[in-house]
Amino acid sequence: MPIILPPITRRRFIKGSIALGGTVMLNSRALVAAADSERAGLDQNRVALLADTHISADPDRVYPGTKWPGSPVKEGEHESVHIAKCLAEAAKSVIALNPRPAHLIVNGDCALSNGKEAEYKEFLRLVEPIRAAGITVHVTIGNHDNRNNLWKLLPFLKQELMRVQAGIIELPHANLVLLDSGRKGVLGEGQLKWLAEKLDERVDKPALIFGHFNPYPNRGVRPIKGMRDGASLLKLLAERKHARAYFYGHTHEWQYDRRAHLHLINQPAVSYYFGKGHAHGWVDMKLTEMSADLELHCINRKHRQQGDRKKISLKD
Ligand SMILES: [Fe+2]
Repeated sequence: MPIILPPITRRRFIKGSIALGGTVMLNSRALVAAADSERAGLDQNRVALLADTHISADPDRVYPGTKWPGSPVKEGEHESVHIAKCLAEAAKSVIALNPRPAHLIVNGDCALSNGKEAEYKEFLRLVEPIRAAGITVHVTIGNHDNRNNLWKLLPFLKQELMRVQAGIIELPHANLVLLDSGRKGVLGEGQLKWLAEKLDERVDKPALIFGHFNPYPNRGVRPIKGMRDGASLLKLLAERKHARAYFYGHTHEWQYDRRAHLHLINQPAVSYYFGKGHAHGWVDMKLTEMSADLELHCINRKHRQQGDRKKISLKD
């Protein structure tokens, strides 16, 4: 099963806030969202897709994502983002949707460094308004995450399967399968076998598969090899026509590809990007019987790719 942060009701939220103390400003915002969620409907056919939030223990951390070995960006011309503000902004736009998505997935790399407990505490603080708004948060494991620290912080959510986090969100029009590509970008034979079995048991409904790593070498700005057993994953999905898309993060770049029935959706990072001027933000996914409709929401609403759309056909 994936790591799931269940939504917070207003009563549960008030109880939790008293127990934890502090974080007064954010809690009052979350409290308003909790009150709203008791009035607003949640749409089971709408999912907010985030990836690479890279939250630091320092709430004021600003990071130059374009500064990586071999980057074509000249020294002095790097672009930085305020990491926590990006997630807070994304959370605000997700909560403002009407109807609200019932689910939100962070597809790996919640943390900035290597999944320190302090980073997860800050991450949880930032997603609190989302949970208070009634939205269920799901998290996959990225290479900057640490399962044990995440589990330690949220022991009641620990769902261990073959020593990894993997699971299925069953929605009215599609099954969402969440995979764990670990710190090194490997699914492993056990997880691939599990994926094949679960897909074969659910041929009646289209499946959308999520994992942090790119399944083949990145075609975008930063050379990144990607998942070691990506070829096995792609073969498995190619053999199953009801597997309609693989969603991944890791490259911090909004990209799209298609191989026969399989759509490959590269989610942008919520926080910093690797290429100068690239889009960062999140994706609104609306599911119908026929399609999954994606719309890019940039943190910078004036970005040229704001509102960019992709359609994944769920039927032939
Ligand atoms: Fe990342």
